[in-house]
Amino acid sequence: MIKKHFIAAVAAVMSLSAFATSTAWAQNAPADQQLVKRGEYLAKAGDCVACHTAKGGKDFAGGLPIATPIGMVYSSNITPDKDNGIGNYSEDDFDKALRHGIRKDGASLYPAMPYPSYAKVKPADVKALYAYFMNGVKAEPTPNKGVDIVWPLSMRWPLSIWRKVFAPNVAVDGADDNSALIRGQYLVEGLGHCGACHTPRGVGMQEKALTDDSTQFLSGGVIDGFLANNLRGDARDGLGSWSEGDIVAFLKTGRNSHSAAFGGMADVVANSTQHMTDEDLSAIAKYLKSLKPVKDGVAPLAYDDKTHQALRKGSDQSPGAMGFLNNCAACHRSSGKGWTETFPQLSQSATVNADNPVSLIKIVLEGAEMPWTQKGPTQFAMPAFHDRLTDQEVAEIVTFIRSSWGNNAGAVSASDVAKVRKELPKKTVGADSGTVAKK
Ligand code: HEC
Ligand code: HEC
Ligand code: HEC
Repeated sequence: MIKKHFIAAVAAVMSLSAFATSTAWAQNAPADQQLVKRGEYLAKAGDCVACHTAKGGKDFAGGLPIATPIGMVYSSNITPDKDNGIGNYSEDDFDKALRHGIRKDGASLYPAMPYPSYAKVKPADVKALYAYFMNGVKAEPTPNKGVDIVWPLSMRWPLSIWRKVFAPNVAVDGADDNSALIRGQYLVEGLGHCGACHTPRGVGMQEKALTDDSTQFLSGGVIDGFLANNLRGDARDGLGSWSEGDIVAFLKTGRNSHSAAFGGMADVVANSTQHMTDEDLSAIAKYLKSLKPVKDGVAPLAYDDKTHQALRKGSDQSPGAMGFLNNCAACHRSSGKGWTETFPQLSQSATVNADNPVSLIKIVLEGAEMPWTQKGPTQFAMPAFHDRLTDQEVAEIVTFIRSSWGNNAGAVSASDVAKVRKELPKKTVGADSGTVAKK
């Protein structure tokens, strides 16, 4: 016992002296290149670039508009530029912003910055991230934009109350448990901020759970008009029928035999998860597979060949079946099984069978393109149908899909489709989509 304490004390002194030397380099380059490299990897795991880079802008120079219920918030310049970025931030200032949601000037940040998730990041990893942002990122003089929120809602002091109510305590460096399950939990809850999209939000726009204490955690949320699916063990609309290998393949290549990434997830795969090591992806997969289903005792969907036979014989002439044959079957096939890793299956698909059909409607109206990844470089695309199909026709087709090949989900009405169409970005509506929605 005494020996153990002694070792701990020595270790503490050693890490303190390591801390002293590493704060010294922050002022006097050259930086510890290994630490910078680790920080770069962690920045990818945290997908900082996705939010902190405007369309066509310089990496990390900020300015990306992010919609909140009260108006537009713009991400900050987090390059080491001293006037416009975070060049004057000490490691402590950086930590305050990243994990506590507090700016250097003391104002609270909008939780559009996922600091409630990043609160889980351990101090040793914050140090590496800081080293990277100070030494591995190019300074850009892009000025920050204010918020597009009208006064008095634009006042930041209510955010400090939000922070006190909803933000969790930040993590401390503890004894390292390197088991895959703990590592996976750390990445999912923390830097990966998977819950920022995949967990439903409450009345205060807070994530209903930040950990697996509640089955709300990762049970599905709506983001930018897409449903970020349930990632728990549910067999029909979750990952119950995915193996760990299926999850790793999806995160690495953006596709697998069940599905292909689209919407916000295509960016997550392209910017973040494809760059993670196989070891970390396996850890994430192991952790996700440990999450209990929201609803117990629901049987997985079984494939049923009846629809396939009826379509082949021409015995189903309903508008939904005809619409499917004319618009979708060329790629997704009359069997509904598609072609693996090319055209995703519509049978037994979580997107198709989810209670909330928004993703299904939106992908039909808007089309989609798989992410580009090193391990899956061919970007197959799905055409947009907003200018070819009416609300009624889309409703008939998706209702048909939701009740074919063994799928078992509720009907979709023309007014459900109209709601999604109204929210489509202006660039989609009226753009000539041709056949394949390639940019
Ligand atoms: C989901 C979007 C999103 C992601 C991902 C994200 N940020 Fe942010 N971040 C924001 C927004 C939006 C703001 C500005 C919020 C405000 O103005 O209140 C911000 C602010 C910040 C600030 C405060 C800057 C200042 O002016 O004090 C820092 C530092 C920061 N982010 C670092 C990071 C790092 C490091 C990562 C990756 C580990 C990251 N962010 C990932 C959206 C994001
Ligand atoms: C910016 C929002 C966002 C973040 C952050 C995010 N996702 Fe997603 N994710 C989505 C959306 C939207 C979908 C639905 C579209 C699709 O299936 O690709 C999705 C789908 C998925 C799917 C496919 C589910 C299915 O049944 O088809 C998996 C697996 C997944 N995400 C895992 C993760 C993991 C793990 C993380 C954290 C490392 C994460 N996601 C972070 C938005 C996000
Ligand atoms: C030209 C081939 C093509 C046609 C035609 C087509 N799709 Fe797709 N579809 C795709 C591709 C490719 C993807 C993957 C897109 C991605 O991941 O970004 C996809 C994805 C989907 C998904 C998401 C499945 C998942 O879980 O990943 C659904 C649902 C879907 N299509 C339905 C339809 C419907 C309904 C029609 C007809 C109205 C249709 N598609 C027509 C190629 C096509």
